[in-house]
Amino acid sequence: MAGLAVLAVGIGGFAAYAWHPAIDPVQPPRPESFDPALVRRGAELAAIGNCNVCHTAPGGKVFAGGLAIPTPFGTIYSTNITPDPDTGIGRWSEAAFTRSMRAGLDREGHHLYPAFPYNHFTLVSDEDNRALYAYLMTREPVRAEAPANELPFPLNQRWVLAGWKLLFFREGTFQPDAARDAEWNRGAYLAEGLGHCGACHTPRNALGAERSDAHYAGGEAEGWHAYALNADSPAAVPWERDAMATYLRQGWQERHGVARGSMAPVVGNLASVPEAETRAIATYVVAGMGEPSPARQARARTVLEQARGGGPGGRATAADSQTATAVPGNDRGAAIYAAACATCHEAGRPLPFGGLHLSLSTGITGPTPENLLNVVLHGLPASAGERAPIMPGFSGTLNDEQLAALVSFLRANFSDRPAWDGVDKAVREARDRDRAVSSRPMVALRAAPADPSRP
Ligand code: HEC
Ligand code: HEC
Ligand code: HEC
Repeated sequence: MAGLAVLAVGIGGFAAYAWHPAIDPVQPPRPESFDPALVRRGAELAAIGNCNVCHTAPGGKVFAGGLAIPTPFGTIYSTNITPDPDTGIGRWSEAAFTRSMRAGLDREGHHLYPAFPYNHFTLVSDEDNRALYAYLMTREPVRAEAPANELPFPLNQRWVLAGWKLLFFREGTFQPDAARDAEWNRGAYLAEGLGHCGACHTPRNALGAERSDAHYAGGEAEGWHAYALNADSPAAVPWERDAMATYLRQGWQERHGVARGSMAPVVGNLASVPEAETRAIATYVVAGMGEPSPARQARARTVLEQARGGGPGGRATAADSQTATAVPGNDRGAAIYAAACATCHEAGRPLPFGGLHLSLSTGITGPTPENLLNVVLHGLPASAGERAPIMPGFSGTLNDEQLAALVSFLRANFSDRPAWDGVDKAVREARDRDRAVSSRPMVALRAAPADPSRP
């Protein structure tokens, strides 16, 4: 009897915890009713939050939703966040919008899936939510219904998410650290909150939550590895504040290379926000990496020396490349490198065709060959209106064995790290991904710059 009573109280308590009231619908506010300065601020905040990246389907209108987001549990579709009254958030009040960001609930009180990164967005201030709301409510309304999620029972029941939240979600705005200066705190607010860097750079547990014991320890993001951004950063040259600020805005930095894959739309968006914001993010993230060890600093000096010899501005060419024959037993990889890569990566060509000396690339020092394979297969296609580095893709010219020989050669020759495990498997997986990527247009980046002039 007593057990049953406890159970009943428990279920009752959970139901009370899980249940949230609807917030009344409103008449869609008129765009003219918002202060244009607030709208412009909202545009910058939306860029930091990457709202366009997740809320735009390939070929679809910006913010109209419908992008399929694959998760280990099934596919979740982003929703329409344009002010369309029937299929978007046109009838949401500011209070309903702020509650969705803060608590992961829709206007009617249903729990939202954490594919919407409200575990980060909860930190966003009321003031910034007001600006985001003003920005979204002044976009063009688009009629578009998001497809139904493809999730198995019971995960397709939204109340189940109350249990997930009980375990992994803490609601509450950002609390500054009084021991740190204003710029660090600004960076922490943006990186942990709207910027949701941890959504990709922190590994997740079996239930899909970011691991609190492994902050920024490196995670997986749509077939790309999002490198560790803590003391375990695999970057060949330790990150410095200014270098990271440049990388975040320009998507390229001369000692670190290029931001591709799921990082590309992030930097595409950050290019449009005030420099002080990206600098603050870099200040916070680099501070968290700590002082590099003497061994790492020594290695960085060696690598920079190598790069000066053969990198952009250096003297080596494919023909006299010192490095290309340095690994006994992998002549095949060395030959492919000398023939297909060294002309751009060692001959000192300028951008857009001149690549980094590969000993500087995190693609080669990183814990998996994933990103290296993605770049080699797919290349860096030129995209309209973007002054970005260009590299041909090799998916049609190199077979799987050649690819495996090449990446093993690069790892042995351009890093001081142990050989990767499972290169053959990684090659096959990258090949499958490349087919999917090639058939999908890269919309996000071009759709990225917001139009802050409206209304
Ligand atoms: C990593 C992907 C991702 C990013 C980034 C993202 N969202 Fe979403 N968002 C989603 C998904 C997926 C859903 C749907 C969740 C669900 O159905 O439970 C969603 C739902 C929402 C909802 C609830 C809408 C409704 O009809 O229930 C709002 C509001 C929202 N997002 C606003 C934003 C804003 C504002 C930003 C930028 C600051 C943003 N989102 C960034 C993935 C994302
Ligand atoms: C949607 C996933 C995603 C988000 C969100 C994201 N990143 Fe990344 N990030 C990646 C991936 C993937 C890479 C690897 C890119 C490559 O290999 O070109 C990367 C690379 C980086 C690098 C280069 C690391 C190195 O050592 O080479 C830095 C620095 C970085 N991200 C910082 C950030 C910061 C700061 C934020 C938040 C403002 C952020 N990222 C948000 C996916 C993401
Ligand atoms: C036509 C010139 C060209 C050729 C040929 C070329 N690359 Fe590149 N590659 C580039 C440019 C430009 C970049 C972007 C700048 C950068 O990050 O190095 C780049 C980037 C890369 C990166 C990412 C570096 C980073 O971390 O940012 C890798 C890895 C890479 N190339 C490997 C290769 C390999 C392996 C080959 C041979 C199979 C090759 N490239 C052939 C021009 C080229």
